[in-house]
Amino acid sequence: MKNLLALNWKMNKTPSEARSWAAELTERFEEGDAELAVMAPFVTIPTLAANLPAGVGLGAQDVSAHESGAYTGETSAAMLADLGVRYVVVGHSERREYHAESDATVAAKAKLAQANGVTPIVCVGEKLDVREKGEHVAYTLEQLAGSLDGVGADVVVAYEPVWAIGTGKTATADDAEELAAAIRTALEQRYGKRAADIRVLYGGSVKPDNIASICAKPNVNGALVGGASLKAADVLGMNDAL
Ligand code: G3H
Repeated sequence: MKNLLALNWKMNKTPSEARSWAAELTERFEEGDAELAVMAPFVTIPTLAANLPAGVGLGAQDVSAHESGAYTGETSAAMLADLGVRYVVVGHSERREYHAESDATVAAKAKLAQANGVTPIVCVGEKLDVREKGEHVAYTLEQLAGSLDGVGADVVVAYEPVWAIGTGKTATADDAEELAAAIRTALEQRYGKRAADIRVLYGGSVKPDNIASICAKPNVNGALVGGASLKAADVLGMNDAL
């Protein structure tokens, strides 16, 4: 199974900036051992569709929990699929925190994405107080169970400890592996043999100089990268490191 390098731009880059980033990437990009995909703001997706180098996939950062209709401001899974989107991030901690997304909402979004042929990247992970109490494994697995309720096995799971996101504080490779292994066991209980094909990513201050050691862990199959995805040079560095 190839590692997945999922690049989450969050609310960064205009379509013009996205075009420049894609041009810089294209100049030096060589398809390697990892699969790359850009989780772009909705408005930059068509620009990326036309400018990404072959071998780099398209992704989105969110999707509506509703199929279609009177939901002003929402973007449906069918719309994403029509643009050629392959992955969509659901349940990112920033959505859970700033938009009060529950596990049930995350599961509804993931199911609709799957129904439209888009693979959801379901995010889970604990805040600092939970880790300090030593409850991070139980907390994360409970969040995972709720977020995967009724969701099929065509899914990617991203473990992102909230205290490591954008803080420069990376979990150690062993911390990442502890949760990735626990998540893998939970996936096996839920999906049986199909769990072997599910990628478990780590996210939280991943960059070119730490990605290799984290992804070398047996249950970690790639990374969900925020800050270090914004410069094409860093992305090339991470791609080379995998
Ligand atoms: O989706 C990406 C994660 O939130 C990690 O962000 O790499 O800036 O810490 P970061």
